[in-house]
Amino acid sequence: MQMSPIVLRQPTPILQDLPTRRSLHVAIISDGNGRWATSRGLPRSAGHRAGAQTARRIISAAPGLGIRTLTLFALSSANWKRPPAEVTAILRLLHEYLLTETSNCVAEGVRLSIIGRRDRMPATLRDAIADSEAATANGTRLHLRMAVDYSAREAIFHAACRFYKVTKLSPDSFSDVLSEVLRGGSTDVDLLIRTGGEQRLSDFLLWECAFAEFVFTSQRWPDFTVDDLQAALREFDNRERTRGALPDAIAG
Ligand code: FPP
Repeated sequence: MQMSPIVLRQPTPILQDLPTRRSLHVAIISDGNGRWATSRGLPRSAGHRAGAQTARRIISAAPGLGIRTLTLFALSSANWKRPPAEVTAILRLLHEYLLTETSNCVAEGVRLSIIGRRDRMPATLRDAIADSEAATANGTRLHLRMAVDYSAREAIFHAACRFYKVTKLSPDSFSDVLSEVLRGGSTDVDLLIRTGGEQRLSDFLLWECAFAEFVFTSQRWPDFTVDDLQAALREFDNRERTRGALPDAIAG
């Protein structure tokens, strides 16, 4: 994890205005690549390749749908339990994505951040990440965060260790420390989508999902379309987000 000086902002109230549709943070657990491939008699890596294509389509559509931050779960720290060849294939896809898409990201105003550990990645990939992050740093239409070798528990643990040394304590300043640990920020998630039929969080954005709405779909990630994303956003729009307060109809 990166160690750098901690800069804290002033504490702000925990209850913030409800986010507007214009600046949503959507996080996606892109599950089901392996089953998609296996059901077609293909190697699992073919599912991840198809999944990367889906990611491209969703990233491209996101800003037009009012999404301002999109966090995609590309590789969990728990995925190291998989065969090395599969993990290597996913890291290669990420490298390929960075090499082919960075200029498009710059042209489309997409700022790219990778959240998660970098010390277990090949040095060439770390360099490509640094180059892409530097090249896209001024993008304002979409903040694209890819979670790679990411574990929310581990990030929170590291932030807690650093937070121990901070004197002005508040939930917001903890978020700032977590943001430093992750490098790519730590903003609240509005909508979490999980494809592939499972209904669990799998160590993804545990802190940031405190008030998130969840949409689970049985679609496998390679089959997930922009229409499916729009359907999830419609479902999100129909939910009343109270954050612990009373619903409007009861509060009067
Ligand atoms: C979960 O499917 C998916 C992953 C572990 C990897 C996700 C990777 C991508 C979407 C490609 C990376 C994207 C870019 C743009 C670099 P699974 O393998 O757990 O599927 P299963 O549950 O069917 O086995």
